[in-house]
Amino acid sequence: MADKKTFYITTPIYYPSGNPHIGHCYSTLACDAIARMKRMQGYDVMFSTGTDEHGQKIEKKAQEMGITPKAYVDEIVANFKKLWATLGIKYDRFVRTTDDYHIKTVQNMFEKLYNDGYIYKGEYRGKYCTPCESFWTESQLVDGKCPDCGREVTEASEEAYFFKLSEFGPRLKELLLDPEKNFLEPKSRVNEMINNFIEPGLQDLCVSRTSVKWGIPVTIDEGHYIYVWMDALTNYISLLGFMNDTYNDYEKYWPADMHVMAKEIVRFHSLIWPAFLMALGEPLPKKVYGHGWITFDGGKMSKSKGNVIDPFVLCERYGVDALRYHLLREMVFGSDCPYSNEQMFSRINSDLANDLGNLVSRTVAMAIKYFDGTLPEEKEFTDADNELLEQLDQLPDFVSETFETMRFSEGLAKVFSVIARANKYIDENEPWKLAKDETAKPRLAAVLYNLLDAIRRIAVLLEPVMPHTSPKIYEQIGADASNTTWESTKVRHALAANVTVTKGEVLFPRIDIDKEIEELNKLFPAEEKGKDLEPLKPLTKFDNFAALDLRAVKVLSCEKVEKSDKLLKFKVDDGFGERQVLSGIAKYYKPEDLIGKTLAMIVNLEPRKMMGLESNGMILSVKYGDGYRVVEFDDSVLPGSDIS
Ligand code: MSP
Repeated sequence: MADKKTFYITTPIYYPSGNPHIGHCYSTLACDAIARMKRMQGYDVMFSTGTDEHGQKIEKKAQEMGITPKAYVDEIVANFKKLWATLGIKYDRFVRTTDDYHIKTVQNMFEKLYNDGYIYKGEYRGKYCTPCESFWTESQLVDGKCPDCGREVTEASEEAYFFKLSEFGPRLKELLLDPEKNFLEPKSRVNEMINNFIEPGLQDLCVSRTSVKWGIPVTIDEGHYIYVWMDALTNYISLLGFMNDTYNDYEKYWPADMHVMAKEIVRFHSLIWPAFLMALGEPLPKKVYGHGWITFDGGKMSKSKGNVIDPFVLCERYGVDALRYHLLREMVFGSDCPYSNEQMFSRINSDLANDLGNLVSRTVAMAIKYFDGTLPEEKEFTDADNELLEQLDQLPDFVSETFETMRFSEGLAKVFSVIARANKYIDENEPWKLAKDETAKPRLAAVLYNLLDAIRRIAVLLEPVMPHTSPKIYEQIGADASNTTWESTKVRHALAANVTVTKGEVLFPRIDIDKEIEELNKLFPAEEKGKDLEPLKPLTKFDNFAALDLRAVKVLSCEKVEKSDKLLKFKVDDGFGERQVLSGIAKYYKPEDLIGKTLAMIVNLEPRKMMGLESNGMILSVKYGDGYRVVEFDDSVLPGSDIS
């Protein structure tokens, strides 16, 4: 027997820097649905996902919690796996960048690229966004800030290894513009990549760090650690066994058929990843798909509208398949998609309960009522059946084509339009009238048989999206393994002529939307405003304020207090002369960054001794995240100026 055709599809590997949320679900669900469909179509599928566990963010979080980075990620990775199990995700391989085989591949690859002259040692100077772990060129900054997250960037410089990305501009442009390949979808992103990144000139890519120790060590230079994207992107081949001995699937599955991700990391997948592969002399992935984001109230989650978006809660209350269907149905490929529970409830009620659920329950109920559950062999088909049958005939190719190009929304809309057509077919043929006429029994049998067989074909096509529901439908309509294959959806009347139906549970109970939102609000009360703030103090007399002398002071010197991890010692100019003051902000500032700044200070507090040193006053700071920021003025404010 000839080998099966292979199909390799990947999700991004997620950062286990926080627990998974509903936003993480979309790429994984989309890949799962495609992988399931491809398996049904007879492909030998490799569907991979995993976690991207190195980097500064995770190193910092673990440090804050006083545990090792590995212990920190282990717990979150377990939650990712739990969520995927809850959502019915059937991945074939889960890669962790801390897995030995992955580390081997990345190290081997680094060495090869270094030996072949694609990686060299240099000094990096640039704008660096710490939360995003990204270096940016001046031209990529938006208003001087990180184009991804909008936060401040800082000047950074360190000894580092670089990948010669700058050499690959012309080849990458050719790849992106190749009309045969259609490498990157949606097309709108092609121009974005070319205009924003290739045309201005690709910069060489920093592929190692010395300051972040939570990473894969560079084997040829102690103290250097491989920098995130080279580590992360390589997962797609390490998990197949490229340059490691753990797996032996590279020849079989590479190149990947589809890399799926959201838009913010398309750049890494459509420029950096192919450039690495070009340098390695390996085949390129066939397609990169960058979908939009699931957004919440314009970006933020809100509990005030019953907008609980914990995917575990949603699955438990409304069913896994309802959530799977809703997300895949709502997101139009290429656009962002706002999430709201209210919208999901409407979808469940209209599409799943009313249209699909009713079609199944009405049809099965009629087969039981009119034929005791088993249809007679004798049937009378007429031209009135043609329209429904023709619409069904067109579905398999359309579903296949739309699903595998991430256009689930279109594909599902079409399936549900045929479900609506089938419901209309019931109304047109009025089985309840046919049932009253003994001579119309063959026609009645044909009508019900057409409906059951339509449900069969529809349920099979929906199985990749609703893998728990379709088998329940098969059971109710008397379908079996032989007539629920993907191929069988192309065939009319594959159900046994004398099929027996069985009454089953309601597939999707209707939701009382107002009541349910009220329930959710009770279960997850909107957070009280100001709940995390210090409570307000009681009123006081104006004189109490007037008694304080608040002034602007200029910092002349600043240093750490020995043996204290909290205190900084300042010499400040208060306009009248110099004075010494201490402040407990050593954790949030480097002393040298404060020198020359003009700060706010209470200058008439009685002197206090701390760690044996006298403090004459108090520098004002404001709570900022988990730390503090000094209150400061610009240079034009003179020392000694009164604050009132
Ligand atoms: N670790 C990198 C990816 C490396 S891949 C070689 C990373 N991780 S991440 O945890 O931030 O995941 C980003 C991906 O999560 C997005 O590309 C998308 O697949 C998914 N999503 C996370 N939030 C999302 C939404 N709100 N909406 C849709 N998908 C989003 O980047």
